[in-house]
Amino acid sequence: MSDDLFSPLSIRDTTVRNRVMVSPMCQYSCDTDGLATDWHEVHLGSRATGGAGIVMTEATAVEPRGRITPNDLGIWSDDHADALAPVADFIADRGATPAIQLAHAGRKASKTRPWDGSVPLQPDEGGWETLAPSESPYPYDDEPPQTRAMTEDDIEAFKADFRAAAERSLDAGFEIAEVHAAHGYLLHEFLSPVTNRRDDAYGGDFEGRIRLVREVTAEVRDVWPDDLPVFVRVSASDWLADRDSWTVEDTARLAPLLAEAGADLVDVSSGGIHPDQEIPGTGPNYQVPYAERVGEATDALVGAVGGISEPAQADALIRNDRADLAIVGREHLRDPYFTLHAAEELGAGDRVEWPVQYRRGVE
Ligand SMILES: Cc1cc2nc3c(=O)[nH]c(=O)nc-3n(C[C@H](O)[C@H](O)[C@H](O)COP(=O)(O)O)c2cc1C
Repeated sequence: MSDDLFSPLSIRDTTVRNRVMVSPMCQYSCDTDGLATDWHEVHLGSRATGGAGIVMTEATAVEPRGRITPNDLGIWSDDHADALAPVADFIADRGATPAIQLAHAGRKASKTRPWDGSVPLQPDEGGWETLAPSESPYPYDDEPPQTRAMTEDDIEAFKADFRAAAERSLDAGFEIAEVHAAHGYLLHEFLSPVTNRRDDAYGGDFEGRIRLVREVTAEVRDVWPDDLPVFVRVSASDWLADRDSWTVEDTARLAPLLAEAGADLVDVSSGGIHPDQEIPGTGPNYQVPYAERVGEATDALVGAVGGISEPAQADALIRNDRADLAIVGREHLRDPYFTLHAAEELGAGDRVEWPVQYRRGVE
């Protein structure tokens, strides 16, 4: 019998209870110190209570300049790990696998929150100089923050920050670490020729541009225990057909190298590198063909994300072997209990467990 949405997923010695993952989603709900708040515990805890197999934190910055906004989560000190520990603990206690997305926003850092306009934050408003492979800032309509091309010392410090962040994530109780190399943030900026114009060992041809993401994945794998999974999120395409840019064939070439560096699953998203991107449509399953192409190219597991919101749709992705994991974002903002509701709708109520506290509501 083929797997379906409620089949457990074994990765190394870790068993995830089903194939639904809560996609990483920024909550912009820290004070300006990057420490997790009650919001994170209740928000992520509710989705674990709602039955998802994996509950992943939002992009969590490995150093302060790596935050998109001053209100993003961080993990650059032991205090940050201590603040996240109850979150990971509650998720695990609910039977879900706690996961953390480790990130650096690169030249897309130093912005206001979406509900404040997502505009560049100037130094007199608490903004900061951003880091990128090359000097060019993200082309905002408003005055962008100053962007500096990273030196080799900056690159070494970044790798050390990523490694230390992974170590702290483990201390905090997370069981999956995801390297965020998508959506136009720092690691994607190194991959794409649109943003990487370096002429040293971290730029130039394909091999040079992929070097940093390979090294960072290997750093994380090195400190992550053998029995626990490492994921990497990539943007499969820049959606910039009119210029030299990152394409799905580049991603297909990269995927086996990520697996070699220690990635167990490639989480396949797209876009974000430049505002000129032209996405043909963002309807149901719009990035799934990319996940399938990546799946053909690597033995690693593949996660599909983007426009997955219906139980039968998510179930079909697994049944038809189009992906190993259905990663659900915005539907989880609408319904924290997506997985439990999906089980009811798909006649699989006996394969999930409502919290005992809530049984009276479903008897
Ligand atoms: C509010 C919000 C915040 C997001 N934050 C992140 C993030 O921190 N990291 C990331 O990789 N993607 C982030 N995304 C993208 C989602 O993880 C997901 O890839 C995207 O929403 C498409 O999936 P969906 O159609 O199921 O929502 C965010 C999306 C939303 C709506």
